[in-house]
Amino acid sequence: MNKTDKALTIIILAAGAGSRMYSSRPKVLHMLAGRSLLAHVIAAAQSCAPQQIILVTAPAQDTVRDAADRYIQLDHAFQEHPRGTGDAVMAACPQIAKTTRRVLILFGDTPLITPSTLSGLVNDTADISLLGFTPPEPSFYGRIIMDGDTPTHIIEHADASDADRSLSLCNGGAMAVRADLLPALLAELVDNNEAGELYLTDIVARAHAVGCTARVIVGDCVDAQGVNSRADLAMAETLMQERLRVRALEQGVSMQAPETVYLSYDTAFGCDIYIEPHVVFGCGVTIADNVLVRAFSHIEHTAIAVRARIGPFARLRGNSAIGADSRIGNFVELKAAQLGTRVKINHLSYIGDATLGDSVNIGAGTITCNYDGVAKYQTQIEDGVFVGSNSVLIAPITIGADAYLGSGTVVSKNVPAKSLALTRAPLRLLANWARRTKTPKD
Ligand code: UD1
Ligand code: CA
Repeated sequence: MNKTDKALTIIILAAGAGSRMYSSRPKVLHMLAGRSLLAHVIAAAQSCAPQQIILVTAPAQDTVRDAADRYIQLDHAFQEHPRGTGDAVMAACPQIAKTTRRVLILFGDTPLITPSTLSGLVNDTADISLLGFTPPEPSFYGRIIMDGDTPTHIIEHADASDADRSLSLCNGGAMAVRADLLPALLAELVDNNEAGELYLTDIVARAHAVGCTARVIVGDCVDAQGVNSRADLAMAETLMQERLRVRALEQGVSMQAPETVYLSYDTAFGCDIYIEPHVVFGCGVTIADNVLVRAFSHIEHTAIAVRARIGPFARLRGNSAIGADSRIGNFVELKAAQLGTRVKINHLSYIGDATLGDSVNIGAGTITCNYDGVAKYQTQIEDGVFVGSNSVLIAPITIGADAYLGSGTVVSKNVPAKSLALTRAPLRLLANWARRTKTPKD
């Protein structure tokens, strides 16, 4: 983290109704690559090391404030009614710290914004610095009107003429403003527009009229992509996934079909990792060097150590850890399972709430019965244990080191080290018995 910038305050606006999402969940809490839109914006804001972040929410949005508080300590401002982005910034103004010289305003629904774009706005010397971009489909964005190199005003889509709408330079939303100018510029806002709102964007025209300097910092069209609808959210996910994949490829991860691999914002890779097609990484996954992840695996909250081979069709979850050189094969589910080194669970097994030592072999079809309908129990399998196929381990239970469970065993008592445990119905052999057959009809 950079040294705290005592001159910088960041305001994040999240009080809007988000009505275009048609959702009972506040818009900024919709998820993108494993965390909320708001969490993405907060993370970008933190990269600027501001002395203060003020989050503007509506009084009823407890869930948004709680979600933000789980990430960082920030200041809260309340916008009583969603009367527009300008009104939302006004709600935050009284809380801006005295030492602040520049205020960066961000929208909670613009999750793809990057630290480098923000530092461009923060470090610019104009009185107002706007993020401009030229999206392939300008749709409902405000248009920035230029006079040469100077932005003179912003026209919202709803208020724009056809000629304005044909302009390609759009307002990305983020804006850095000199702190001493901001309250006076906001005080001049009026709501005589199509939406009947106090538009933050109108401060640009006001600043121009009173001779302030203004500049557009042009970002790429991914950075400023806003999320107003579910279609926008899906588009943002596509763009974010592309970004995460490129980052992984650049770090030494090979992917046979990158476009089919889904990553989380926090997926952490070592190098020389190979990922086959159609793999989904949820949150909290760490993968060390030389791991192979085969097709159609689903992995979350799991740490995978060096040279492990996972899948195809593996499901790993719930704070699991896979030791070095281990093999997890097809149709194996691990939940809260801690595995030592050189463990093999190659086929069709469920191992949950379990600790396995080194060099444990789990045969096909093995199940840990960790749940009795009321509580969950632990299974402990010590080093060198061999579990024969189709065994059932009824937790809580411990299998001592180098013990051997015969195939088809149902284990309900602890098994001492080096012993053989076996539950098996005796095999009956009936000599000269043949299956009855039907007499064929003519
Ligand atoms: C806004 C800009 C538009 C820009 C676009 C970029 C204005 C008037 N328009 O439009 O020029 O191209 O973003 O994405 O600023 N919010 C509040 N209180 C309110 C209204 C909104 O806190 O009363 C918050 C919302 O929660 C949201 C952000 O401000 O996070 C932007 O509001 P939204 O209504 O999405 O603005 P856009 O129509 O996208
Ligand atoms: Ca928006």
